[in-house]
Amino acid sequence: MDKQAVTSYIEANKQRFLDELFDLLRLPSVSADPKFAGDVRKTAEAVRDRLLEAGCDKAELVETKGHPIVYGEKIIDPAKPTVLIYGHYDVQPADPYELWDSPPFEPVIKDDKIYARGACDDKGQMYMHVKALQTMVDTGSLPCNVKFMIEGEEEVGSDNLETFVRENQDKLTADVILISDTSMISNDHPSICVGLRGLSYVEVEVTGPNRDLHSGVYGGAVANPINVLSKMIASLIDDKGRITIPGFYDKVEELSPEERAAINSAPFDLQAYKDDLGIEEVAGEEGYTTLERVGIRPSLDVNGIWGGYTGEGAKTVLPSKAHAKISMRLVPNQKSSEITELFTKHFLAIAPKTVKVKVTPHHGGEPTVTKTDSLAYQAASAAFEEAWGKTPIPTRDGGSIPIVALFKEVLKTDVVLLGFGLDSDAIHSPNEHYGVFNYFKGIETITLFYKHFADKKG
Ligand code: BES
Ligand code: MN
Ligand code: MN
Repeated sequence: MDKQAVTSYIEANKQRFLDELFDLLRLPSVSADPKFAGDVRKTAEAVRDRLLEAGCDKAELVETKGHPIVYGEKIIDPAKPTVLIYGHYDVQPADPYELWDSPPFEPVIKDDKIYARGACDDKGQMYMHVKALQTMVDTGSLPCNVKFMIEGEEEVGSDNLETFVRENQDKLTADVILISDTSMISNDHPSICVGLRGLSYVEVEVTGPNRDLHSGVYGGAVANPINVLSKMIASLIDDKGRITIPGFYDKVEELSPEERAAINSAPFDLQAYKDDLGIEEVAGEEGYTTLERVGIRPSLDVNGIWGGYTGEGAKTVLPSKAHAKISMRLVPNQKSSEITELFTKHFLAIAPKTVKVKVTPHHGGEPTVTKTDSLAYQAASAAFEEAWGKTPIPTRDGGSIPIVALFKEVLKTDVVLLGFGLDSDAIHSPNEHYGVFNYFKGIETITLFYKHFADKKG
């Protein structure tokens, strides 16, 4: 590959690459909300069209019970290695809209960052792969076959992609699965994600009296479900930051002192982390560092809690019901379905007789760890070294991409998590953004990955 040709091609096409990403970001492809189903489909069609323009021989929408999957490929020579790109074109809801400094679906560049819902997660990162392909095709330097599988339901659990993967194993045969949907330590310290947490997600409902009551007439005499739910939730984590569900830690993989030292040797700036979040102190399980708390330890969080009166002014009410959505992030050897079961058993057991409790499980996912001794990882590492001038540090991220564990189980193919986001990019939050530098550097790094992977394979 002519590296000079590649970098000048990217340089010459920067504005176009940005404009095209902006077009995608203007489409509100919120998978969770049926109101946006039409825009989700339009986004899938746009991704298909961009894949064809970038040089794919074929690209199509695959219909599912939910939002379509975009599949595309360019097979240059069956004897050459094949790279399967996975990404997602759906985004999280943009709510609360009023906290955005500019409208979430009207992308703008400010301080060299692209602001829009999906800028980093995952349209910006996914689209780098489309532009990397085009760069390699147009500069005559594509050394591998490429397959694209871009889904529209990652943010809602990838249920239909699971079916597609199970039913299309031959079509998806590849030598490596490449995913850009994770983060790096910082632009000064590039890193490659080698671990993702799993997820168990439940919704709970606590019912007290059979109707809302006057909080004066009944207050103090009848259990208030919101009071009860708050107490139950508070009891789920003890003073040492440990989750109190019996059996919760039984299978948690304990790392060796060497492995822990390796994780903690990453150049993590705790003060900058706190400053970015506007907090005085971090919190979590005693005996573990922040990097360990998100990378190798499980966690439990309330994602939403509601009930009673939350409108303007004061209404005196002792509500009949209280609700919460609770997520648990899981680490290797914990199983999503088992943890959901342990949670349910425990939550029912700690409920006082004054209320009825219902637990409804939502989507979950298994944790994953990827290998650092695979050819694919070595190629990724070499690509980073060449593009960034530094050896990337392997790190474990706290987020989840449930389908990755399924890829490993069903397709039995090495996965490389080549993410270029930063924790400070505010994914899932108002004012999500993605560095313009990361977008272009990512495209370059991806082209170099192909080169090194083809060299090592061939
Ligand atoms: N890209 C994220 C996951 C992620 C973010 C991994 C940052 C590593 C670093 C993905 O789109 C996501 O948000 N996943 C969900 C899970 C899904 C089942 C809703 C998550 O982690 O909450
Ligand atoms: Mn994502
Ligand atoms: Mn996400």
